[in-house]
Amino acid sequence: MPGVSIHIDNVTKRYGTVSVIRDVSLDIAPGEFLSLLGPSGSGKSTILMSLAGFTHPTKGVIRIDERDVTDLAPRSRNIGMVFQQYALFPHMTVEQNIAFPLLQRGMAKSEIGNRIEAITKLVGLVGLEKRPAPNLSGGQQQRVALARALVFQPPVLLMDEPLGALDKKMREHLQVEIKEIQRVTGTTVVFVTHDQSEALGMSDRLAVLNHGTVEQIGTPEELYDAPANAFVADFIGEANILSGTLVGWSDERCAIRIADGSVVEGTPIGNFPLQSETPVELVVRPRSIKLDQPKEGSLCGQVLSSSYFGESVSVRIKLAGGSEVTAKEPPTLRRVAGENLSVSWSYQNARVFQQKGE
Ligand SMILES: Nc1ncnc2c1ncn2[C@@H]1O[C@H](COP(=O)(O)OP(=O)(O)OP(=O)(O)O)[C@@H](O)[C@H]1O
Ligand SMILES: [Mg+2]
Repeated sequence: MPGVSIHIDNVTKRYGTVSVIRDVSLDIAPGEFLSLLGPSGSGKSTILMSLAGFTHPTKGVIRIDERDVTDLAPRSRNIGMVFQQYALFPHMTVEQNIAFPLLQRGMAKSEIGNRIEAITKLVGLVGLEKRPAPNLSGGQQQRVALARALVFQPPVLLMDEPLGALDKKMREHLQVEIKEIQRVTGTTVVFVTHDQSEALGMSDRLAVLNHGTVEQIGTPEELYDAPANAFVADFIGEANILSGTLVGWSDERCAIRIADGSVVEGTPIGNFPLQSETPVELVVRPRSIKLDQPKEGSLCGQVLSSSYFGESVSVRIKLAGGSEVTAKEPPTLRRVAGENLSVSWSYQNARVFQQKGE
């Protein structure tokens, strides 16, 4: 079944006096693959459980396919789900588990057989069809849960860390398969993961959550290249974050003094007051940092370590003021621990945000 739209309008969930999600609004297009990313406890599962109907929002409205489902029971929402806590039926075999949603929908026996054959092949469960569900490894159980959610081709699929217990190879295989199934069926997917590379690779858009609110939503490129704040920059990809205070500015660039007294430059992001001594954070990606022979008046540091990763080398450097930064260089350049180097970047590649008080 082709995907449908999902709208989350100002949803808040409170337990007692604690709001675990606060005024979250998300508009998800039919057939979109949206990932929720954020630290543990940021509210990802709560949002998914609210969509599924297992959690009732304290405030706000959820619409699926333009229908208000806020007060609708989970079984009336026609949603496929793979949740860590949404266990398999222990008294059933693999194929009985997978057939369950089809039987519930009154599908013909022959069609059920075809569907099971196709889906067990897809998720790599061939040969295990007759096995009782409890006699499977964690990864195999996860694949049964995935098959059970996919087999009735739901218009909405919710997945909460569905690939968590799998080894790297199976995980990468299923990432491609899930993406392919979603592309072919046009199912709308909301996917929760801790793994940012998984999220970047699979998603049309990502929403980054922090303390129950959405920090930023956008395409993988937007979040990586134009993070709205230091938190998002740090969460999506690697980032060097240097704290300092504003000492100078023009229209498009600003100068900040960092801990060791050096002045570095970046591009101010967001409408914060350009005032002397405003506390700010400068964010620069490892690949934007240039290392060179030490020069008079430039920011300098000492190489702590250099780690080879095949396609690149990651160089860790301690600046004079004590902060550390990482630079990513081609493997043709090899740095030696203890070596002194100058550290620089072009101001266009460094984003400067006002420091948020926590
Ligand atoms: N039933 C509950 N009663 C009280 N607090 C709850 C309840 N369920 C969740 N919480 C709290 O809500 C917050 C958000 O939880 P949630 O499970 O949504 O986080 P998460 O982003 O999915 O984290 P993780 O990555 O660890 O799975 C947490 O602080 C959690 O302790
Ligand atoms: Mg969770």
